[in-house]
Amino acid sequence: MSDVSYFSQFSLKGKKAVVTGGAGILGRHFCAGLAEAGADVAVIDLHREPAEELASSLADRYGVGTIGLACDVASPESVRAMVRQVVEEFGEITVLHNNAASKSTDLDAFFAPFEEYSLEEWRRIMSVNIDGMFLVAQAVGGQMVRQGKGGSIVQTSSIYGVMAPDPRIYEGSFYMGRQISSPAVYSASKAAVVGLTKYLSTYWADKGIRVNTLTPGGNDSGQNDEFKQRYSARIPLGRMGNPPEMVGALLFLASDASSYITGQNIMVDGGLSAW
Ligand SMILES: NC(=O)c1ccc[n+]([C@@H]2O[C@H](COP(=O)([O-])OP(=O)(O)OC[C@H]3O[C@@H](n4cnc5c(N)ncnc54)[C@H](O)[C@@H]3O)[C@@H](O)[C@H]2O)c1
Repeated sequence: MSDVSYFSQFSLKGKKAVVTGGAGILGRHFCAGLAEAGADVAVIDLHREPAEELASSLADRYGVGTIGLACDVASPESVRAMVRQVVEEFGEITVLHNNAASKSTDLDAFFAPFEEYSLEEWRRIMSVNIDGMFLVAQAVGGQMVRQGKGGSIVQTSSIYGVMAPDPRIYEGSFYMGRQISSPAVYSASKAAVVGLTKYLSTYWADKGIRVNTLTPGGNDSGQNDEFKQRYSARIPLGRMGNPPEMVGALLFLASDASSYITGQNIMVDGGLSAW
């Protein structure tokens, strides 16, 4: 027996984490999980108020350092300013969860059929989902390289970046006030996340910076019963995911418990990709 403490490798005490899209449906659970595991957490989202509110409630609840900041991940200046502010507050960044994605403000454009999809909407979504990932990985990864002590980067993809959605499950769906579908730009942007992760994992391996993908399946977040039933029927575990169930994989990938894992993709999908 060695005298290694296996369980303490999961602790994030002393880590300084940045979570983009931190005030979202999954993001708030990711932030809370990191805080509970002992990390100081920077909650980053498009709007300041929800980010600040979550940051202060996490500080109260878990007794860690937090900061809530507005940042548009699609803007290089905004990303640079965000990294500067987090480093001023925390001194360093050792964990990045690159997690923000855009649902669009124009739902007709976002859910338009592929044949009619506008290049404008395509580019708008790409500017957040993949350009934003690039900008944040570049700025925070660059900071980690300068710090010279390694780090862990986790990037959120989606089951639909890995496999195609089944259009049949959207018949009779109702969510966000309308019938939904999963647009091609979402799949293309989320597939690109997996590629970016693999690239960066070898690019920064000699710097001790690990880069992995976390791939959620569909989470229960207020979809109608028809949709939930159709989706669940395709899932080996027979149901949609719940946001807290996405957090364990993040804590594992962020912590030293995964110190020999880089370039991988953990699928938290109820087994959908195993069929
Ligand atoms: N919820 C699911 O079922 C599910 C499934 C698969 C993958 N995902 C992925 O998980 C991640 C989190 O999803 P979610 O369900 O919490 O979505 P969400 O829409 O609730 O959260 C995304 C957050 O990103 C923020 N955001 C949008 N544009 C931004 C920008 N330009 N700059 C900074 N922040 C911006 C939003 O304000 C929002 O708080 C996303 O990458 C999403 O694609 C979610």
